[in-house]
Amino acid sequence: MQVIIFDNPQQVAENAAQWVEKLINKKSGAVLGLATGSTPISLYKQLVAKHQADELSFANTTSFNLDEYLGIDENNAQSYRHFMNENLFDHVDIDKSKTFVPTCNQGENPREQGLAYEEKIKQAGGIDLQILGIGANGHIGFNEPTSSLASRTRIKTLTQQTLNDNSRLFAADEFQPTLAMTMGIATILDARYVLLMATGENKASAVKSMITGPLSAVCPASALQLHENAIVLLDKAAASELEDQEYYLWANEQNLKINQEFGLYHNY
Ligand code: F6R
Repeated sequence: MQVIIFDNPQQVAENAAQWVEKLINKKSGAVLGLATGSTPISLYKQLVAKHQADELSFANTTSFNLDEYLGIDENNAQSYRHFMNENLFDHVDIDKSKTFVPTCNQGENPREQGLAYEEKIKQAGGIDLQILGIGANGHIGFNEPTSSLASRTRIKTLTQQTLNDNSRLFAADEFQPTLAMTMGIATILDARYVLLMATGENKASAVKSMITGPLSAVCPASALQLHENAIVLLDKAAASELEDQEYYLWANEQNLKINQEFGLYHNY
């Protein structure tokens, strides 16, 4: 795991945007895995700005989102499709027919929908770079604690903690879904690179468990310890419970030197 600690959330977003930019510029037809939530909003702002400055085109990219609520349709302002349109898709030149969200509408079979989503990812050639946030309880996607580390796209029941954490985004009288379709942990681990962004003190404990805790379904993000190319971008607050901060800073300096000498190697 490559852990990179920045002074503030803005720097986290800028660095994440560089990873996306490098991928798109290196690989025509790049496949992005995207996340919703508060954390990646500043990343999407960076990407939109790069596009508007004619520095970045999404014309040849395909995207797969991690998750989507059940029981609300894509026109609902709370849907993750709506979130993606508002924060990214409507402002860049991506072909929306190549943007996918794991939906399961009324009458559809969630098992079949999950399998079909997995198949679509495969047909697209797999995900090159998966953007992730982390829940305060260690979830990635909506893989809540105790999710199988071998899980695939399926329906999940959200925990009370996640419902509480996300209730800030719903009006008091608004329907808040308790179920979601989500890529599984194994789906996420299949991505060639995973880039997890975490900012703020409320993520510090989950970040610590992810990086230095035991590999355990209790902290789904700890599954990233098994990934060959996992990059974790943290601000100081999210890194505050890590004991080896100096090591990560130092190792990162060495990585920069190695990259300068040998060039950046990305196995996309
Ligand atoms: C969103 C997602 C979630 C969020 C996590 C953190 O698509 O999959 O795992 O990344 O809940 O959310 P924020 O960024 O709002 O703290």
